[in-house]
Amino acid sequence: MTIGAGPRGPGVLVIEPMGNAGRFLVEAADRLGLRLYAATHAEVHDAYPPWLRSALAGVCATDLTDTPRALDDMEAFCRTHAPAGVVACFELFTPLAALLAERVGLPGNDPRLARAARNKVLMGEAFAAAGVPAPRWAVARDPDEAARVAATGALGWPLVVKPAEQGGSWGVSVVDGPGTLASAVRAAQRFTHARPHGLALDTTALLQEYIDGAEYSCDTVVADGVAHPLPVVRKDTTSGRHRIETGHTCPSGLDEELARVVQDTAARAALAVGVRNGIAHTELKIPPGTRTPYVIETGARLPGDNLCELVEAATGVSEAIACLQAVLGRVPDTTPTASGAAAIRFLLPDHGGVLRRTSVPPAPGTHAEFHLRPGDRVPEPADSACRIGHVLARAATAGGAGDLAASVVARSRVEVG
Ligand SMILES: Nc1ncnc2c1ncn2[C@@H]1O[C@H](COP(=O)(O)OP(=O)(O)OP(=O)(O)O)[C@@H](O)[C@H]1O
Ligand SMILES: [Mg+2]
Repeated sequence: MTIGAGPRGPGVLVIEPMGNAGRFLVEAADRLGLRLYAATHAEVHDAYPPWLRSALAGVCATDLTDTPRALDDMEAFCRTHAPAGVVACFELFTPLAALLAERVGLPGNDPRLARAARNKVLMGEAFAAAGVPAPRWAVARDPDEAARVAATGALGWPLVVKPAEQGGSWGVSVVDGPGTLASAVRAAQRFTHARPHGLALDTTALLQEYIDGAEYSCDTVVADGVAHPLPVVRKDTTSGRHRIETGHTCPSGLDEELARVVQDTAARAALAVGVRNGIAHTELKIPPGTRTPYVIETGARLPGDNLCELVEAATGVSEAIACLQAVLGRVPDTTPTASGAAAIRFLLPDHGGVLRRTSVPPAPGTHAEFHLRPGDRVPEPADSACRIGHVLARAATAGGAGDLAASVVARSRVEVG
């Protein structure tokens, strides 16, 4: 397939397409015959890979950390280029996309609620207001306040400490008892600005009740306020203090009825944070012996982790196409056209250091990608930044795809010195 700016179709302005979902959005725009524009920082644009630069019909260079200026610049850009839709491809800018859509009269999310899709304190309030099942929570501005909250026993042990605004499991800790609470709060509060734009973050730490059980994600495309559920995906993580994703599998293995409950709960979460024209990525856990999913978080954006590729490989549904259709005010195409399975497994290090060597054996039905190269620094395995690469496998069943990806990972070599 040739990736490029569609010559005639309407345009969509993407607020920061540099993340994992950007490439799937570019592919989807090509398939729909749309022109894609980007709003970003000049120096971030300078670092775009060639395929992304050449896919763009135009760039609005602005300062996305300065909301009034970014809105003025993007409004002027919209007057010149007349895009028919606007979408954020970067979680922290989803409120900006909602504000811009309202200002220029394009389909978009509710700007009054949009910050709740980025800030987990506001998200907790939005879920409570809408009756969405979610962990109990409290805020802590410092370790002493966290100790006081924990001592009330209202959240129990273990509990989860996380930054109000962050992603990629950065600064998220599952804490077993009071002895390690202060260090977890400090870890959650160490992010004052987000890379690469320098956006200032809310450094409030959030304390949450720990929800036991298996974890799933489910995306919801919303068009004119109507939720269209997408396939449920099983998410696997490490099990210690740091919950690092080890892989995702589609289909999820849930029975049809429970998968529908997950889809309904994810849709309620998306609507609760004001998603009206766009997509939301929701993570949920189901406590053992129950059939009630609890929403861990939702984001008003396409999923990362190559989940667009995984879901399309298993079901034929392109989440990126559905998302673009929704932001254009069209009815999204969410009908599965395949009933296969796909699994992704991440190549993770045992410890941090410098990446010395990698090798992944070829296997039919699989392909691998590296996120780091030999010579790169590998962070300690505390969040998703330590990922060295991934293996994606397709098979007839979820079990087959999971086994195939896991067997390739088991035969791969990752040397960190
Ligand atoms: N309240 C909770 N109960 C149980 N597990 C939790 C809870 N909160 C977070 N986790 C675990 O930690 C992971 C990361 O937390 P969360 O999704 O809130 O952070 P994030 O930085 O937005 O993550 P990511 O971008 O990696 O999805 C979750 O996917 C889940 O496995
Ligand atoms: Mg998450």
